[in-house]
Amino acid sequence: MTSSQTRRFALTTPLYYVNDLPHIGSAYTTMAADAIARFHRLQGHEVLLITGTDEHGQKIQRTAEQRGKAPQDHCDEIVAGYKDLWQRLNIQYDRFSRTTSPRHGQIVAEFFQRVWDKGDICQGHQQGWYCVGCEEFKEERDLLEDNHCPIHKRPVEWRDEQNYFFRLSKYQDDLLQLFADQPDFIQPTSRRNEVLSFVERGLQDFSISRVNLDWGFPVPADDQHTLYVWFDALLGYVTALLDEDTEPTLDQALSQWWPINLHLIGKDILRFHAVYWPAMLMSADLPLPDRVFGHGFLTKDGQKMGKSLGNTLDPVELVDRYGTDAVRYYFLKALEFGRDGDFSETRFIDVVNADLANSLGNLLNRTLKMAVKYCNGQVPDIDIQSIPEDHPLAQLGRKAGDQVAKAYQNLNFSQACNISLGLVKAGNQFIDEQAPWSLYKKGEQGLVNEILYTVLESVRLSAYLLTPVIPNLSTQIYQQLGFKLDLNVNHDGDETTLHSIHSNWGGLPANQILGTPQPVFQKLEPLQAAAP
Ligand code: MSP
Repeated sequence: MTSSQTRRFALTTPLYYVNDLPHIGSAYTTMAADAIARFHRLQGHEVLLITGTDEHGQKIQRTAEQRGKAPQDHCDEIVAGYKDLWQRLNIQYDRFSRTTSPRHGQIVAEFFQRVWDKGDICQGHQQGWYCVGCEEFKEERDLLEDNHCPIHKRPVEWRDEQNYFFRLSKYQDDLLQLFADQPDFIQPTSRRNEVLSFVERGLQDFSISRVNLDWGFPVPADDQHTLYVWFDALLGYVTALLDEDTEPTLDQALSQWWPINLHLIGKDILRFHAVYWPAMLMSADLPLPDRVFGHGFLTKDGQKMGKSLGNTLDPVELVDRYGTDAVRYYFLKALEFGRDGDFSETRFIDVVNADLANSLGNLLNRTLKMAVKYCNGQVPDIDIQSIPEDHPLAQLGRKAGDQVAKAYQNLNFSQACNISLGLVKAGNQFIDEQAPWSLYKKGEQGLVNEILYTVLESVRLSAYLLTPVIPNLSTQIYQQLGFKLDLNVNHDGDETTLHSIHSNWGGLPANQILGTPQPVFQKLEPLQAAAP
């Protein structure tokens, strides 16, 4: 893999609402963010992966009321559910930002003051339809029949109140300039186009305060008003940058990791991140993030998921039933990250079994067994330089590292997996064609060594390149190949060297003692079909 110029890489997931336990949508963004973070860490970059929770606003206040809980207690419970899921999914986050933390309050107040001093906050009258689920005012033309929100399918509420507004309209030209100067600011292109036409249609100021709402920070200039949840939430990314014991000031927060390299989000919250957020930052005279990527929505068996339809997918259940790496693999390999994607249990089991059990696991297992028989349980003793230029596996292997790195950089997880798996598929075909078992009988030890080496090396390289997606499985494969390396942990500054060896063809040391062959991935079985 080519090392990118940045030695530091900061990225965020959205800060999730705590109205309910995490769903598969939040898991999806977080798995992707973790894979990117791991990809950068492998290259020796310093990484800051930020996730967290968005805890204020009417939606959370109402949920807590319905549950008969104090809002903070409610939030604390749900936050524990998020942290538990991230552990199950093997997410290595560096910061967990909670918008109810007192430090966050100080950052928000200071930021508000900057924008206020700039003259970008004014009073105004807000009238319109509000969706509490989205925490957003809706255009009348976007509503479904009977004034229902198109996303939540629930009635919107009429609001008519005095609010403070942020002068978004003032930043229309600057935003268009930004999109022109930094064509990669919003990705993928389809989402960029969406945002462009939204901004070109003309921007309206948006209200950043609410009355009759207690659960939130008071507006610094007027404590009769509570700050709008989105104004507060986006700043959670900034608060997350503070080291534990430092004073919570903007200067401190922005001193090390700002600007953030990548905000990963779902397409429904693109406008907040690609329009409101940069405009707020421009107003505060702060540098902008490098990139906002809006991924698609998940459906189940071709249908939109929702509690009312009773077809939600519980990520905890899924991981408990099928294991972490299988879940991570399916969502990152089988769906195209920028587009909507579907989960069906049948496809899930098919993809995972075909790739991880039948291809990767099986090739490792059968080749290791041959190495035990024909090469004393050691990596065959060959001179890697002697492998011919046109060897089919070496040819693929020499290109794979760079190709996969590009795919991860472009957030094309599916392609990264396909290229890695391509090595394994070619390895399977190669070993069948070459039939080292008969060459061994004929006493062709030199040829046997070369064949088994190149196949084991293909499995190794494939496992290494898949580490960001299936870290546990890759580590197990590495251990069976005789490495004492846990790919799940950071190797404190060694990564650059480790990475240049392991991401390239030929990283498997000749004569290394191999582990005992054991299946690394058990085939998944579908749940028993319900009795008729
Ligand atoms: N709290 C805001 C984000 C504030 S960021 C400063 C929020 N939270 S959320 O919990 O509702 O949504 C979090 C993420 O989950 C969003 O990126 C959203 O796109 C994603 N998903 C919610 N449902 C989804 C699917 N069905 N499929 C894929 N992702 C979806 O919005």
